[in-house]
Amino acid sequence: MNKYYHTKVLYGIAILAISIINICNGEQCANINIDHRIDCTPEIDNVTLAECTKRKCCFNDKFTRSLTSNKSKFIPKCFMPTDYTGYKVTQVGEQQNDQGHVSVFMVKLERQIPSGFPAEIPVVAVEITLLNDQSLRLRVTDMKNKRYEPPLPELNLPKPTDSFNTLYKVNVDKTGLLEITRLANSAILFKTDLTKLIYTNQFIQLKNKLSSPLIYGIGEQKAPFLKDTQWHMYSVFNHDQPGDSFRPLYGSHPFYVNIEDKSTGLAHGVYLRNSNAMDILLQPEPAITWRPIGGILDVFVFVGQSPDDVVRQYISLIGKPSMPPFWSLGYHQCRCCTQPNTLAEQMVITNRTIAAGIPFDVQWNAKEYMVQFNDFTLDEDRYGGFGQWIEHLHDIGMHYVPIIDPGIDPKQLAGTYPPYDDGVKYDVFIKNSTNGTFMGHVWNKSGFTVWPDFTNPKSPEYWTKQFRDFHKIAPIDGAWNDMNEISNFEKKYPCPKNSSLESPPYVPKNLKSMTDMTLCMTAKHHIGVHYDVHNLYGIYMAIATDIALKSVRQKRSFVISRATSPGQGRYSGHWDGDTDTTYKELAWTIPSIMNMNMFGIPLVGGDICGFLGNAKNTSFYQEMCARWIEVGAFYPFSRNHNTKKMDQDPVALGTVVTRAAKHALETRYTLLPYLYTLFYKAHTNADTIARPVFMEHPRDPHAYDPSIAETQFMWGSALMVAPVTQPNVTKLNVYLPAGLWYPYSAATYGKPINSSGQTLEFDTPVDKVNVFLKSGNVVPVLPSRQTTTAMRKEKFTLVVVLDQSGSAKGQLYWDDGDSIDPIENNKYSLFDFDVQKGSLSTRSVVDKYRDQEVVVNNVIVLGLKAKPNEITMNQKKWSNFSYEESLLKLTIDKMELKLNGVNNQIVWK
Ligand code: NOJ
Repeated sequence: MNKYYHTKVLYGIAILAISIINICNGEQCANINIDHRIDCTPEIDNVTLAECTKRKCCFNDKFTRSLTSNKSKFIPKCFMPTDYTGYKVTQVGEQQNDQGHVSVFMVKLERQIPSGFPAEIPVVAVEITLLNDQSLRLRVTDMKNKRYEPPLPELNLPKPTDSFNTLYKVNVDKTGLLEITRLANSAILFKTDLTKLIYTNQFIQLKNKLSSPLIYGIGEQKAPFLKDTQWHMYSVFNHDQPGDSFRPLYGSHPFYVNIEDKSTGLAHGVYLRNSNAMDILLQPEPAITWRPIGGILDVFVFVGQSPDDVVRQYISLIGKPSMPPFWSLGYHQCRCCTQPNTLAEQMVITNRTIAAGIPFDVQWNAKEYMVQFNDFTLDEDRYGGFGQWIEHLHDIGMHYVPIIDPGIDPKQLAGTYPPYDDGVKYDVFIKNSTNGTFMGHVWNKSGFTVWPDFTNPKSPEYWTKQFRDFHKIAPIDGAWNDMNEISNFEKKYPCPKNSSLESPPYVPKNLKSMTDMTLCMTAKHHIGVHYDVHNLYGIYMAIATDIALKSVRQKRSFVISRATSPGQGRYSGHWDGDTDTTYKELAWTIPSIMNMNMFGIPLVGGDICGFLGNAKNTSFYQEMCARWIEVGAFYPFSRNHNTKKMDQDPVALGTVVTRAAKHALETRYTLLPYLYTLFYKAHTNADTIARPVFMEHPRDPHAYDPSIAETQFMWGSALMVAPVTQPNVTKLNVYLPAGLWYPYSAATYGKPINSSGQTLEFDTPVDKVNVFLKSGNVVPVLPSRQTTTAMRKEKFTLVVVLDQSGSAKGQLYWDDGDSIDPIENNKYSLFDFDVQKGSLSTRSVVDKYRDQEVVVNNVIVLGLKAKPNEITMNQKKWSNFSYEESLLKLTIDKMELKLNGVNNQIVWK
C-alpha cells in the first residue's frame, strides 16, 4: 500500500471511530462548545483517538482558532462528554449551626470510571463551609486517607458567625452541580461539575466557571496584569527564571480576583491553598482549571463588594504584611557579579551617589564580599575594613544589606567553616532519598552546595548563630535572600529513577522538567518531600532570617526574598528578579508590583534599570534608565541593581540619569510619611499600597482598560503614578478618574486638573515624574534629605487636596522607624486628619511614641477657590499664609503645630 492510501485508510478509520464515539455519546460530544471543553487526557500532549476512546471521552482535533501554537495546544482534543461521570454523587448532606442555619454542605463522591491516571482516589469528600457572610471554604479530600496539606500559610480564619446574612448562595445537588452565586445579582462566583473532577494521588483537576474574563492574580508570571483567558496555561512552581519567559517565575500564588461587572465593580476572589506544583489553565468560556499535582483542593472563595474588599479578605486570611523599617523605604543601591570586586571600588560608587545629592539610604552587595562565594565569610583581602565601613554608613545615617544565599559550602576544611560544621551538628541540611545530605551546586566556588532545611525546628537557631557571628564582623541591617526557589545549577548524582515523585504522571506544561534548576523531588525536608514543599522554601527561609535578624539586631527585620508564597509578606518583601534591561521589562514591573501587593507582599520593586543585559552608556539607555528610575522611585521597595559588565548607578550613567534620579527620588522621599502610613494600613487592615487604578475606582469602567490598568498605578488612594515606559515619549496620555488632580513633584504642585474621567495629554520631558495627588486626601509629607535618618528630624507638611464638597481625609502613622512590632507593642502614634467646610482638624488617636514629636510646620490647601480673609489656628488668628490663585493653593506656614496628645483645628474663611 503506498503512503497516500495508507494515510487515507487511517483517516477513514479515524472518521469511522469518531462516528462510533459520536454514536455512543450522541449529543454528549457534539453539543459541547469548544470553549467549554474539559481535558480528558491533560497529561498527553498529542493524544490519539485510541487513547481518548479508552477514557470514554470525545475526540475532535479539527478546530480553527487563530491562536499561537503555544495556546492552541491547550485546547483539549480529547474532552469529557456532557454525561461523563468520573465521580458519582452518592450522598449530599447539610449541617446546621446552633442557631439552626445551614453552615456546612457535604457531598460524597465515588469514582465510576478510571481517569487514566494512576492511584485514583476512590471516595472523595467535598465539604463546603460557610465561613462568614463574605467567604466560604471548599475542601475536597480523600475520604479514607489523609493527604499532604501545607503547614503554611497559617490561616486566620474569620470568626464563625452565629447568624448568616451571606452575600452568596450555595447550591449543591445529586447531579454533581456545585454552584455559588451572588445573591444580589445571581453572578456566578464558583460553578463546577463535581462528576468531572479528576482526583488522583499525583494529579487533581477541577474546572470552575468565571463570571467574566476580567481575571487578575495567578503569580508569579512574566505576564500582563490582566490574565489571558484565550487558552493560556500558567504554571505555578517557584523557579529561577531570568529574562522574558513563559516559564513560571520565583513565587507561587494560586489566587485570583474576578471582576463580575465593570460598572458595579462587584468582584470575588478564589485562593487554592496548595503548595504543590500546578498548572492553571484559563479558557474563553470563561473558566479556570486548576491542576495541582499533589495535596488536596482547599479552596477559599471571597465575595467582595469591590476588588479591594476581595484582596483585603485574602490577605487577612493568609497573614497581613509586616511593618518595614522606615529606612528601608529610602533608596537602595546594589551591584553584582564580579563587580565591585573590592571595598575600595564599592566605596567609589557609594560616595559618588552621595556626592551627587541623590537621596540614598541603603548600600547593598551581592556575593562579591564573600570568600569563594560562601555565606557568612568576608574576604579580608578585597573587603578589608568592611565592618568599619558599615559603621561609617551608620554614622552618616545609612544602612547596609548583603546577599545571604541559602546554599552552604560543604567542602571547606572541617572545623574552619561554622555555617557547614554547625549545620552538620544541628543536623539541619536537606537530605537525599537515602538520608545522606542532598548535594548540588549553586555559586560556591568549591563546586558543591548543601542547603539548610528551614522547615526543621532547629534551623532558626542554627541560622541565628551564623547571623550573630557574622554580625560581629559586619554589622548588617537586613538580609537579601536570593536563589531560594531552591535554585540548583547541577545535581551531583542523578535523581532516583523509579520514583513517581521524580517522574510524576503530569508535569506542569511550562516546566522543562520537575527538577529543572532545582533539587530532586525525593529530597527530604523535616516536613515532607521536596515534591510537596518546594514552593515553601522561600517562606521558611524568610521566617528563619526574620528571627535571626530580630534576635541579633534587636530591631525590626528587613528581608528581601526572591522566592515567595502566600503569607510571606509577614516575613519579607520581594524584588522582581532577573529582568532584562529593556523597556518591555520596565513596563512589566508595574503589573508585577501590583500583583505582589494583591498577594500581601507590598514591599516590592524591580531592579531599577534592569538586571540583565548591559545599560550601555548611550542616549537610548540613558533615557531608559531615567524612565526606569521615574517608575522605580515609586516601587514600594526602590533599588537599583544590575549584573556584570558596567556600572549602572545613576552617576555612572551621566547627567541626564543623575538629574532624573535625584528629582524622582526627592519626590519619593517627600512622600515617605504617606508611604509609611500606607504600610501601617497594610499591616493592620490588609490594604494594598501599589495598586491598580480600578482598586480605587472600581465602578469606573475605564479603569479596567488594559491601556490604563497595565500602565498606571496608585499609592493608596491619594497618589497616581503614570510613568513613561517607552522610548521617545515626550507626550503621554494619562487617564484621570473624575475628580480634581494636582501634578506633584518634590514639594512643587502643578496647575489643578479637573477631570470628568478623562484621558489627558501631558508633557513628559525625560526628567519628569508624572504623578498626581487626588482630591479628597490629606497627605503628610516631609522635606527630602540625603537620608531618611536626616529627614526624620524635619517638620511635617500636611497637603490637603479638597474634593468638590471641600472635604478631605488622611492619616499619619509615626514611630521610631526601627523597633520590633511597634503596633503590637503599642509604641506608635497615629493622627487623623479631617477637612470639612474650611476647617482642618487633627486628632491624636494613638499617642504612644513620644521620642520624636510630630510637628507640622505647613499646611498646604489645594483646590481652594478663593483667598481666605482670615486663618485661625486653635482659635488664634494666624497671619503667616499666602494664596496662589493660579494654583488655587493656600499655604499656611511657620506653624510649629504639635500633634501629639492634642487635637487641633485650623480654620480658613
Ligand atoms: C541572582 C539574582 O537574581 C541577582 O539579583 C543577584 O545579583 C545574583 N543572583 C547574585 O548572585
